Amino acid sequence: NWKLSAFAERKVEEIKRIVGSSKVVGGLSGGVDSTVAAVLTSKAVGDAFTGIFVNHGLMRKNEDIEVCEALRSLGIKLINVDASEEFFRELKGIDNPEEKRKIIGKTFIKVFEREANKLNASFLLQGTIYSDVIESGAASKNSAKIKSHHNVGGLPDKMNLKLLEPIRELFKDEVRNLGYSLGIEPSLLTRQPFPGPGLGVRIIGEVDSEKARILKEVDSIFMDVLRKSGESEKIWQSFAVLLPVFSVGVKGDKRSYGYVVALRAVNSSEGMTASWHELPHEILREASSRITSGVREVGRVVFDITDKPPATIEWE
Ligand code: XMP
Repeated sequence: NWKLSAFAERKVEEIKRIVGSSKVVGGLSGGVDSTVAAVLTSKAVGDAFTGIFVNHGLMRKNEDIEVCEALRSLGIKLINVDASEEFFRELKGIDNPEEKRKIIGKTFIKVFEREANKLNASFLLQGTIYSDVIESGAASKNSAKIKSHHNVGGLPDKMNLKLLEPIRELFKDEVRNLGYSLGIEPSLLTRQPFPGPGLGVRIIGEVDSEKARILKEVDSIFMDVLRKSGESEKIWQSFAVLLPVFSVGVKGDKRSYGYVVALRAVNSSEGMTASWHELPHEILREASSRITSGVREVGRVVFDITDKPPATIEWE
């Protein structure tokens, strides 16, 4: 697409001019927006840009590793900060969803700042896109106000960094297409929406590393079943939820007492409304049997058949 290539070239030149010989830092998550912004910036200033990946331990199974590999293979200089223990420590004893979100957001900023301060950067790269600009009601170019839903909102306030927002004028589908034309691999561009607080809001109630380990296993089996059956292409968002509920069952000839997990698959265009996806029964059956045989701690699997509204997509 020549229009997008022209845009990319223009942006790269613009970033070069703005940044000069300064350094740029930015938080990367593997999300489409931050990835595209980072590729443009790396093309423009090379190693003067450093991406920081804050691993909160609440991504999908292996996603932290895969995302970092993919970003590095795009030529981005990246620091991968494993802060999972710090996140679990901060989350100890917290079961209220909004409080969990706040703590995860705050801890994210704390970790990011700590790392960014070592780099002596003058610019903060943000993958702000046009819909963020509208939603935040940001009229002024310097306003970094991003709705609290976003992972990195509120970052630069104390840091005294100038904002760099190269894809501010693009719509989501334009960002994705630009990503393709920049050679970003499809697996990064077609990822499902994933909440900033990650599995933190999919582990109902108190979060700890053991529950995160269990949920990652369950979720990855569910995703694998959906992928292999070809069903994932028809689904907007799918995931597993770990409930703070134990249920009686039999495993072998023994009575067992295991976690209940819920599976959810929904279709939506922008997440404002959603309808549950009618998964074929044999796929549900396979997911259930693979989960209960593969994850010892889980004794029962249920499927969520609630639309949004009245429910939300996430359980918390
Ligand atoms: P709900 O659960 O509100 O979700 O129906 C709508 C969409 O937003 C995602 N979501 C979040 N994204 N931080 C995020 O970055 C959050 O705290 C958060 N909560 C929900 C959800 O996955 C769905 O795509």
